[in-house]
Amino acid sequence: MRILGIESSCDETGVALVDASGDGVPRLLGHALHSQIEMHQAYGGVVPELASRDHIRRVLPLTDAVLAQAGCTLDDVDAIAHTRGPGLAGALLVGSGVAAALAFARGLPLIPVHHLEGHLLSPFLSVDPPEFPFVALLVSGGHTQLMRVDGVGRYALLGETIDDAAGEAFDKSAKLLGLPYPGGPALSRLAQQGDAAAYKFPRPLLHSGDLDFSFAGLKTAVLTQVKRLAHAAPEGPANAQLAVALSEAQKADVAASVQAAIVEVLVKKSLAALKATGLQRLVVAGGVGANALLRQQLNAECERRRVRVHYPELHLCTDNGAMIALAAGMRWRAGLVPPGASGHRFDVKPRWPLAELDAA
Ligand code: KG4
Ligand code: ZN
Repeated sequence: MRILGIESSCDETGVALVDASGDGVPRLLGHALHSQIEMHQAYGGVVPELASRDHIRRVLPLTDAVLAQAGCTLDDVDAIAHTRGPGLAGALLVGSGVAAALAFARGLPLIPVHHLEGHLLSPFLSVDPPEFPFVALLVSGGHTQLMRVDGVGRYALLGETIDDAAGEAFDKSAKLLGLPYPGGPALSRLAQQGDAAAYKFPRPLLHSGDLDFSFAGLKTAVLTQVKRLAHAAPEGPANAQLAVALSEAQKADVAASVQAAIVEVLVKKSLAALKATGLQRLVVAGGVGANALLRQQLNAECERRRVRVHYPELHLCTDNGAMIALAAGMRWRAGLVPPGASGHRFDVKPRWPLAELDAA
């Protein structure tokens, strides 16, 4: 059972092929990725229309590359999977349309996949895959959630952000510091040279007693601090230009301090979720899961509590096709793909809460 997966929800075109035969975790036979980061960098963020057009250019050449890597042709493919949502509507339509066309032309089943389920299951492709049940911390550019995961398709939401996602907090703070998009990796690199104790940024909802997050206030606190350092008058330069008045050392200190605030909240809430559920296993997934400080602090805290913590391979933390093919394979194995799935019809769901996955 070979499944071709296509991811196109945002600014990465990803294609992968997995072998979902047998009992173990589906095996990755090949995968290829094209990141649009360079293209969007000139605009300081993702331009949806440009993203869609670029997906159109990339998806078939990437598919050919993956099949060649795996030593296969389309004749060897048994099902086609695609990211149905959440994400940018136009971008989702490209991958989903191509997947549906391939499935229809070949008479193959079409398997729609939830992007966050892909992230959530991506650590199963690592050398040390997790076992169910576990607590999952899903931290991406658009989502920050804690889930209880009892099996494939059995996801219960424990808590989530009430405003910005953790990735957004990284990206918006980075923008205020004049760093290029996407801000997370750039900000964490700069933070290595800074003092995390230089500025005391708020840790929102840290003691709220629930498992929800809030990161919108952090952005305002960073803006206020950057303005103070830049001695900006109320009607002074636009926010994006403030950072030029800061020294490299000041920028590094702000970066280190904001990263420390975000990471502390993510770590403490993850530990609270483990305590509340009594589970001894944590899975971290999504782009922010690549953050070195987050990994370092979670590893230390989890080791102390004898909790096992699992991450995707670093190159599978951000968006990719492998996680989509994998999630389709695991759903197929679990009997969660409707038998009538066919390539005639598809839709996309730009907004799609993970907890509603099986009701869809
Ligand atoms: O999962 P992802 O690739 O896309 C979404 O589904 O949103 O996550 C992208 C997010 C961006 O906000 C990016 O800045 C953040 O992940 N990110 C990081 C790091 N690498 C990526 N944030 C902090 N530290 C990193 N090393
Ligand atoms: Zn993602």
